[in-house]
Amino acid sequence: MTAFAPPPGSIWASLPLPALVLDRASNILAVNPAAETFFNASARSLIGQAASMRLKVEGALDKALEQARHNESGVVINEAEVSAGERQPVQATLQIAPLNDQPDLLLLLISPRVLAERLGRARDASSAAKSAIGMAEMLAHEIKNPLAGISGAAQLLAMNLPPEDREMTDLIVEETRRIVKLLEQVEQFGNVRPPDVRPVNIHDILDRARKSAQMGYGAHMTFIEDYDPSLPLTLADPDQLVQVFLNLIKNATEASGDNGGTIRLRTFYDLSLRLRRKDGTGSTLPLQVEIIDDGPGIPAEIARDIFEPFVSGRENGTGLGLALVSKIISDHGGWISVDSVPGKTAFRLSLPMAPRGITTPDEVKS
Ligand SMILES: Nc1ncnc2c1ncn2[C@@H]1O[C@H](COP(=O)(O)OP(=O)(O)O)[C@@H](O)[C@H]1O
Ligand SMILES: [Mg+2]
Repeated sequence: MTAFAPPPGSIWASLPLPALVLDRASNILAVNPAAETFFNASARSLIGQAASMRLKVEGALDKALEQARHNESGVVINEAEVSAGERQPVQATLQIAPLNDQPDLLLLLISPRVLAERLGRARDASSAAKSAIGMAEMLAHEIKNPLAGISGAAQLLAMNLPPEDREMTDLIVEETRRIVKLLEQVEQFGNVRPPDVRPVNIHDILDRARKSAQMGYGAHMTFIEDYDPSLPLTLADPDQLVQVFLNLIKNATEASGDNGGTIRLRTFYDLSLRLRRKDGTGSTLPLQVEIIDDGPGIPAEIARDIFEPFVSGRENGTGLGLALVSKIISDHGGWISVDSVPGKTAFRLSLPMAPRGITTPDEVKS
């Protein structure tokens, strides 16, 4: 009988994706801790069982295993529906590869789609945002001057017109004003300074944003605060974070329509998300903040692109709200993701924890 000894050290154990090693008969030889979590079963109960008994994969798993063995090369099953035991089926990509030194053994990696997509989406947003914004800023600057001329000329014209004919000139003035406002938002977008970070209590920031929203556009919404009071401080620029929450609350409000709805502000601690940057450094983002609304959900046509600038599902939208949110959060070394179905849209921010030993100015005072 063949044996598989997990590599020494912690690679096998700390691999964040469920991983299994299968023997020649496709029985489970080894599982890592992430796989135990995925199957909701202990290694002891999984080992020795046929892989196809524990793991149901839409499209045949057996065939893919056989192919990997036969060709002695990797096989990928893309975005298949995978179910394991009692749990709900999930969309996952399976990677199967013979072990280098024991090619009759197969390594099977399961990457559930939520995670993959979350990571992919947020990363795309920040780089695409940067190039589109540079261009838009330049245009904005160039367009503002002639617009001022157009608006001025319309106002001069209006002076010589009888009041009943001023509808057209008013329209010109009104519309140019709207465009200038849009351009100013584009310019403001390019001007976001690097965050001036300090240890802050996320709940204070959320309160500021909620109060400000309740005095204006969010007056008809019901807010629920679902806070974990023991949440540690994060390191952030308070004004920029308020802006982030205001944009998210505004979107939730607009999606809910005139009859209002409920916005839940939720905070909790979750250590499982690790961010790995391009330069190889990594950090955990344990502080989670969710803005959850019960509106109609993100329109499917734009769901993949909402963090891109100028993508909007609304008649008079600029599509800059979420692009700005994404930029600020990425400047903070944080992460943003979204889950949306009709009736429940949740934007989640994952933020780093402030290093211990630093106190807030408020704490120093008291
Ligand atoms: N909470 C939400 N519920 C439903 N759709 C949303 C929500 N938040 C954002 N969206 C969609 O994403 C689009 C982009 O949002 P945003 O970048 O803020 O631009 P804008 O609000 O100017 O359209 C919105 O137009 C809307 O279609
Ligand atoms: Mg918006």
